[in-house]
Amino acid sequence: MGMHAAGQSPSKSVMITILILLIFTCESSSSKDENQERDALLMFKMSLKNAEEVLRNWNNPPRLPCPRLGSSRTTPPWRGVICLNGNIWGLQLNCLKLSGDIDVDSLIGLRKLRTLSLMDNKFEGAMPKFRKLGGILKSLCISKNNYSGNINDDAFLGMSSLKRLDIADNRFSGEVPTSLASSMRLLELKIENNRFIGTIPDFPPTLVKFNASNNQLQGRIPPSLCDITDTSSFSGNKDLCGPPLDSKCDESGSSSAPNQIVPKTNENMSILHVISVIISCLLAIATLIMVYLQLDMKKDGEKDGVITPRGDGKLTFFRDDYGCFDLQDLLRASAEVLGSGNFGSCYKASLIEGHCVVVKRYIHMTNCGKDDFHHHMRILGNLSHPNLLPLIAYYYRPQEKLLVFNFIHNGSLAKQLHGDRTCEKQAGGLNWSTRLAIIKGVAKCMVYLYKKLPNLLVAHGNLKSSNILLDKWMQPLLMDYTLLPVVDVEQAHNLMVAFKAPAYSKQGHIDKNLDVWSLGILILETMTGKLPGQPRTHGSELERWVDTIGREKVFDKKMGGTENAQGQMTKLLEIGIKCCKVDIEELTMIANNIEQLDEKDI
Ligand SMILES: *[C@@H]1O[C@H](CO)[C@@H](O)[C@H](O)[C@H]1NC(C)=O
Ligand SMILES: *[C@@H]1O[C@H](CO)[C@@H](O)[C@H](O)[C@H]1NC(C)=O
Repeated sequence: MGMHAAGQSPSKSVMITILILLIFTCESSSSKDENQERDALLMFKMSLKNAEEVLRNWNNPPRLPCPRLGSSRTTPPWRGVICLNGNIWGLQLNCLKLSGDIDVDSLIGLRKLRTLSLMDNKFEGAMPKFRKLGGILKSLCISKNNYSGNINDDAFLGMSSLKRLDIADNRFSGEVPTSLASSMRLLELKIENNRFIGTIPDFPPTLVKFNASNNQLQGRIPPSLCDITDTSSFSGNKDLCGPPLDSKCDESGSSSAPNQIVPKTNENMSILHVISVIISCLLAIATLIMVYLQLDMKKDGEKDGVITPRGDGKLTFFRDDYGCFDLQDLLRASAEVLGSGNFGSCYKASLIEGHCVVVKRYIHMTNCGKDDFHHHMRILGNLSHPNLLPLIAYYYRPQEKLLVFNFIHNGSLAKQLHGDRTCEKQAGGLNWSTRLAIIKGVAKCMVYLYKKLPNLLVAHGNLKSSNILLDKWMQPLLMDYTLLPVVDVEQAHNLMVAFKAPAYSKQGHIDKNLDVWSLGILILETMTGKLPGQPRTHGSELERWVDTIGREKVFDKKMGGTENAQGQMTKLLEIGIKCCKVDIEELTMIANNIEQLDEKDI
């Protein structure tokens, strides 16, 4: 499906934003704003150490941090800059070994800045006065640095939009600032692995994600947090007590051992206390629900974008290695169209260098109900094999589905074998041992899919050279796998490669053999460097193609290795031919036979 996409001409590529795809309202910005934002960033950069090299594309005029809205030939944003509607919406400068005294004042010039992430750098000393950014920031992440010392109690005063704060994994000490507790919008707070002391402030019940583990906190957990069921959020603080922990608090509010017998005289008191805790918990939950309903209602109307995209869709993540940022942020990154295939379009979204993802948009999945789709995506998200491109996240809406994968730099096997025809690039000329390793990897991964998904007749369904990506060690990564259960039946039969097999196109026969046949064709294509016909070729035409290859046995000249590996190469070709011929063939046996092949004849 979309994956000759990945091989398509970059000259055709257009910079678009995926948020257009998600139908956001656009506002234009004046060039005065743009210059102001650029100057602000350059000021900010000056306050950083180690920035010259990693932020070298933050250069002087005329280049702008964000591509200008509406221009067709645009450059990507500056590294780590996330743009929305042509304005700087976020800075994500993670893992860049940055240090220095952050000039918060310079960031005041970024009037649309909503999210700032500086995690995993080398910043140290006192926490910068982010408060100066006032009420605009929604997400702040400075975890995994070496910040230390007390945080002023009023450090977050006035940051009324803050929804997400992550200051975990630093060396902060002193008490948790109570100004945080006055942040009525706070949804997520991570302060774990610091040296905070004292009690946990009474946070508003909006908080849904909280982690304070591994500090030196003590005393009663405030009632607003009692519905946080995962108690690992509190672990590593030896003196915390009260629900949701098992340890009861004594009268002074400090911890006492669990299951301790409460003295009789205090029984009534303690029953009263339990009742009051239960009531406050119920109240907290009720408030939480109300706040949520309100947020939900607001979402549709809000222009500058609460993080969740509009509609009844939901973004679901399987991998958690994007630091403070999640898919919503990725969707706001500018994206490049890689191409559009049969099933929809394919975009490359670059958040920061080295962190690119591919977003595939499928339009032929409309018949699949929401629950079935979620269920199947969960199955895909749980698959894990070194030769399988893992699904990072997905997005569901009735009319469109997005699947998110890592971006793989070496492109597809098809591109390596046949070159990029549209931009006349030469084929890479993979050598024999690389080709053998690729086929071995593919075969092993197919066996894995069949073992993991025994109930699916066609476990992959779309195995072809343009759907096999090559990583930097030229190891294969299968993509577009196992989508048959969610693709509309008619489209699946028209578009998926398995249904081109003669067994299906002539006899309408669906069984495991369809994938084995695709594997056979793949082997022949890889060994001969010849394309298996035009995209629409199927059935007897493909049988003829296989026959010709079987007769001629002409290997791709670019492969080399013919001197001392002729025997092994012929064997692999024969396995390929066998896959295309035999009606019912054991995939495991074929994979074993392939695995036994050597680079050289013995
Ligand atoms: C953090 O800072 C302290 C000094 O404040 C220093 O001793 C320590 O080595 C630093 N840790 C790292 C990982 O840089
Ligand atoms: C809280 O942080 C600790 C330490 O990093 C971690 O082990 C634990 O799983 C976290 N708990 C939650 C609920 O995030």
